[in-house]
Amino acid sequence: MKRTKVIDALQSTDFGRNIIVKGWVRTHRSSKAVDFIALNDGSTINNIQVVVDPTTVDADMLKSITTGACLCVTGTLVESQGQGQTVEIQCREIEVYGLCASDYPMQKKGQSFEYMRQHAHLRLRTNTFGAVMRIRHHMAIAIHKYFHDHGFYYFNTPLITASDAEGAGQMFQVTTKNLYRLEKDENGKIKYEDDFFGKMTSLTVSGQLEGELGATALGQIYTFGPTFRAENSNTPRHLAEFWMIEPEVAFIDMNDLMDLEEDFIKYCVKWALDNCKDDLAFLNKMIDKTLLERLQGILKDSFVRLPYTEGVKILEEAVKNGKKFEFPVSWGMDLASEHERYLVEEYFKKPVIMSDYPKEIKAFYMKINEDGKTVQGTDVLFPQIGEIIGGSVREENYEKLMGEIEERHIPMKDMWWYLDTRKYGTCPHGGFGLGFERLILFVTGMQNIRDVIPFPRTPKSAEF
Ligand code: 4AD
Ligand code: MG
Repeated sequence: MKRTKVIDALQSTDFGRNIIVKGWVRTHRSSKAVDFIALNDGSTINNIQVVVDPTTVDADMLKSITTGACLCVTGTLVESQGQGQTVEIQCREIEVYGLCASDYPMQKKGQSFEYMRQHAHLRLRTNTFGAVMRIRHHMAIAIHKYFHDHGFYYFNTPLITASDAEGAGQMFQVTTKNLYRLEKDENGKIKYEDDFFGKMTSLTVSGQLEGELGATALGQIYTFGPTFRAENSNTPRHLAEFWMIEPEVAFIDMNDLMDLEEDFIKYCVKWALDNCKDDLAFLNKMIDKTLLERLQGILKDSFVRLPYTEGVKILEEAVKNGKKFEFPVSWGMDLASEHERYLVEEYFKKPVIMSDYPKEIKAFYMKINEDGKTVQGTDVLFPQIGEIIGGSVREENYEKLMGEIEERHIPMKDMWWYLDTRKYGTCPHGGFGLGFERLILFVTGMQNIRDVIPFPRTPKSAEF
């Protein structure tokens, strides 16, 4: 007989049927007349209750079954007598696959997330992490479905690269050189000619530049893969290894770009509400009582569209009226998260798509506005998360783009292929990058980005 997954068993009304379920013990309660074992196999947040008549099984074996043990249970599916579940299993036979040692780190309820992070290899078996990881899966499916249904091609960009897409110098170097015997030339520079790729290479910070090559050939593409940033940001919003979704579209303008950003995020949130009901209900109860309300709220309203210059005016006005910020506000500065939070959480009370930033605080590839001072960049700012998307219309004019590259002293020899798109049939185009884990943070109500990826990579931490 094949095993029945817990998710299917719980939905079955085929009472009296003989079934086999397999999974890990969440709790085991004993009394004289009956034992109750709650079994979970990861297919759903819900457990199936196994009802055991202790006179029918080996007493020592039954006693040895503790939280975390792995079992195969054969029995009859019956309508539940008790409250809290509709079906349960009248146990006939238990096979123990694996007992669980008494020092099992996940047996106590209510452990801190900090503690669980130190046991990230086992935290996946808890209710919270099961829910988060299932939602993460469903979000990945939603993303592929959205783009596929809208005529985007899934396009794979390299992880090892010789160019710094964001020009921010936060790259992890890739080398096969013997670091104990590094040869240098007469100027003290490392010789890369004899390194694996014959040049200096790193892990990518973004697939955008290659994504632009795809979009200017296939029309519209999206990437969905890992990206790496060696920024020493020890915050609940930053990872050194995170997943990014980067659509890139030919013939798009600012308005269409912002429409795409908004429509895409709303689609993902709706997908979660439609497809992750049990897990969201659990998180709403245990982690954040306003989660469902917040997710539904996002779908109702239009996002605010706010040029940077207007945003700065609102912030300056707030300061005049007595609002205290840690950092002063002035045109030209990169807004601090306290400023973004004020606009999103206090002033508008909904997501904000900010646009038209001063060019000095944005990447070299953004299209310069006619004022010569601002660029067609957009950031989508979310309550509690801050920046969830960064995107822009790209500068498609060869001379203007070259001007920026030179002004910023970006090494040209690594950029020739990128510039070719502007030489051969250049076209208006643009796109954005969504941080996958930031989306998962929003959708799950979790507080720390380290708790929405199975094995987080952060400064001084690469365990598991
Ligand atoms: O704003 P960013 O740096 O934009 C780009 O990389 C562009 N090339 C995207 C594009 O236009 N195709 O990053 C995009 C998003 C951010 O808005 C944020 O959600 C996420 O990536 N992100 C991070 N997420 C987790 N940890 C980090 N260290 C992140 N850095 C950026
Ligand atoms: Mg950004």
